[in-house]
Amino acid sequence: MTSLDRFKPRVAVVLGSGLGGFADDVDAVETIPYGDLPGFPTLGVGSHVGRLVLGHVGPTKVAVLQGRAHYYERGRADEMKGAIRALAAAGCETLLLTNAAGSLRLDMGPGAVMAISDHINFTGVNPLFGDTGDSRFVDMVDAYDPKLRVALRAAGDDVHEGVYIWFSGPSFETPAEIRAARTLGADAVGMSTVPETILARQAGMKVAGLSLMTNYAAGLGGESLSHEQTLTVANEAAGKVRRLLRTFLERYS
Ligand code: HPA
Repeated sequence: MTSLDRFKPRVAVVLGSGLGGFADDVDAVETIPYGDLPGFPTLGVGSHVGRLVLGHVGPTKVAVLQGRAHYYERGRADEMKGAIRALAAAGCETLLLTNAAGSLRLDMGPGAVMAISDHINFTGVNPLFGDTGDSRFVDMVDAYDPKLRVALRAAGDDVHEGVYIWFSGPSFETPAEIRAARTLGADAVGMSTVPETILARQAGMKVAGLSLMTNYAAGLGGESLSHEQTLTVANEAAGKVRRLLRTFLERYS
């Protein structure tokens, strides 16, 4: 039995690019490097720390993941499988996924936040490739829990709602790909989150997703895109996102 199992968190939170500072808002009981947790990933993106913080936010017991592994790091969509299954096994009922994303909507500029209502998997891969048994046929209707979405929107000001499309990365999208994504019904684009949602739904967890817009997607804004810009804008907006997460978790019941 690990400390994660003993602690029995109710909500797990994955902190995306530039949002790792939220871990400081947790009244921490224990901080564990991923390397000490069976099944947790080895991380390859410098800004992702790779620690699990167990503690409280208000009355809510949480497990906060400071950093995630991405499909583009090793070409494996199941990088987060061990971590998500360990969280579910420890009794986590909800997984709150956060990420930095590009916006496809002009009314949702850099710094805006969006509660994810649904996703489009544009990569052609799935974290459950190779899984066996009937549980791999996961129902993805209402994958992002409607009630949690209402709670997320109520926890901040001007929280938008929309569809997240997953591109593999690590290169950013082309303007033609973004036009295609818009036609398909996407509102925000990013390189993460979707595999974790699929794994969490298979494991029976409820999922909430929050995207922080760090830029207009390729071809929509004037500027060129870079990871540095993602981190700069995410850091600027981090305070607002941290307040929203804190309010959501304090009210969680
Ligand atoms: N595309 C993909 N991922 C991203 C973006 C983007 O424009 N911005 C932040 N993460």
